[in-house]
Amino acid sequence: MNPRPNLNPRLDLLQPYPFEKLKALCADIAPNAALAPISFGIGEPKHPTPEFIKAALSGSLAGLANYPTTAGADSLRKGIAAWLERRYGLPRVDMAQVLPVTGSREALFSFAQTVIDGTRPGALVLCPNPFYQIYEGAALLAGATPVFANSDPARNFAPAFDRIADDAWARVQLVYVCSPGNPTGAVLSLDDWKQLFALSDRHGFVIASDECYSEIYFDEGRPPLGALEAAHKLGRGFERLVMFSSLSKRSNVPGLRSGFVAGDAALLKAFLLYRTYHGGAMNPAVQAASLAAWNDEDHVRENRAAYVRKFAEVTPMLAEVLDVALPDAGFYLWADVSRTGLTDTEFAARLLAEQNVTVLPGSYLAREADGVNPGANRVRMALVATPEECLEGARRIVDFCRSLQARGA
Ligand SMILES: Cc1ncc(COP(=O)(O)O)c(C=O)c1O
Repeated sequence: MNPRPNLNPRLDLLQPYPFEKLKALCADIAPNAALAPISFGIGEPKHPTPEFIKAALSGSLAGLANYPTTAGADSLRKGIAAWLERRYGLPRVDMAQVLPVTGSREALFSFAQTVIDGTRPGALVLCPNPFYQIYEGAALLAGATPVFANSDPARNFAPAFDRIADDAWARVQLVYVCSPGNPTGAVLSLDDWKQLFALSDRHGFVIASDECYSEIYFDEGRPPLGALEAAHKLGRGFERLVMFSSLSKRSNVPGLRSGFVAGDAALLKAFLLYRTYHGGAMNPAVQAASLAAWNDEDHVRENRAAYVRKFAEVTPMLAEVLDVALPDAGFYLWADVSRTGLTDTEFAARLLAEQNVTVLPGSYLAREADGVNPGANRVRMALVATPEECLEGARRIVDFCRSLQARGA
């Protein structure tokens, strides 16, 4: 007999990742071989990593001889606290309100494992919709059920919290928000935060604010509002509130795996305890490179300027053929393709076949809730490639849409 190992049955609840669905969609398509492939599909930063960050990393390899602490070096925590004060105009951030993490993805996941109380029946985790799929997996593996608040295009894609019934709120233990949003690029307003804080104060849930796109925006004078900044502006403390930030997009170091969590010190104490067992300590050389990156804004401004130029060229071109507008922030265009007469998956499949350009169908990034999939009929385009490639991709999308028009779709 060869008995099969037992497995956590909740693993079966995990959905295939959007890119796996995209791969399956593309599997039977022969892309136009006359054209070089261009991908707007995967949202991975592609700008070069600044040399000073690489130098800080390689100059700190002596640190590999020691186990790092899970809390991280005081110098890094203080550096992050100082960045938070500068960036969000916060009066004083204490080291106890900051915890370095090895990328925001694992932290968004493990945070749910820390805060969900499985002894209370019927735990719910509220996610925006569309959303970053880690929130759903984190909820499921923490023993909770994910529920969704559809983003409302009429309110700058803010989650429709008012559609959640009171008996559901009573069971919600954790709310994820994503601002700037992936894929919508929308930033929550102070009023949105006011509403969410009031709900949290009434029902007692924890708020996890994913802000990993916060440093890519298009108006240098209007950086996106952050969760802690909103709390401060509204005269509220950080109770039941944490934000997640990351160097991946800000500093073009997705391979470094570096970010932080900041906010409610009591929650962070529990999160640190959890992480001590989970093994979430950051490599000392990565800590040194991270501190160098958080201490410098010049490279961040340059990086932002590169996105600003790309979006300024590409957005008006695409707006001629699709319903699309410059987002508040982030590096995605979230385009409504309805006027082409195609669904999002048809649009993605035919664009690949005819123009060898990959985009991500919006329905893969959302779940059906309230009778609709709020990603349906939209596609996400990540403008992460070189300006030339982004322009060429946009030209091909324009050609594709015009040829659809000419053919009557
Ligand atoms: C919305 C969102 N949150 C978090 C992450 C994770 O980023 P990282 O783990 O590199 O910090 C991503 C990455 O694509 C993302 O899109």
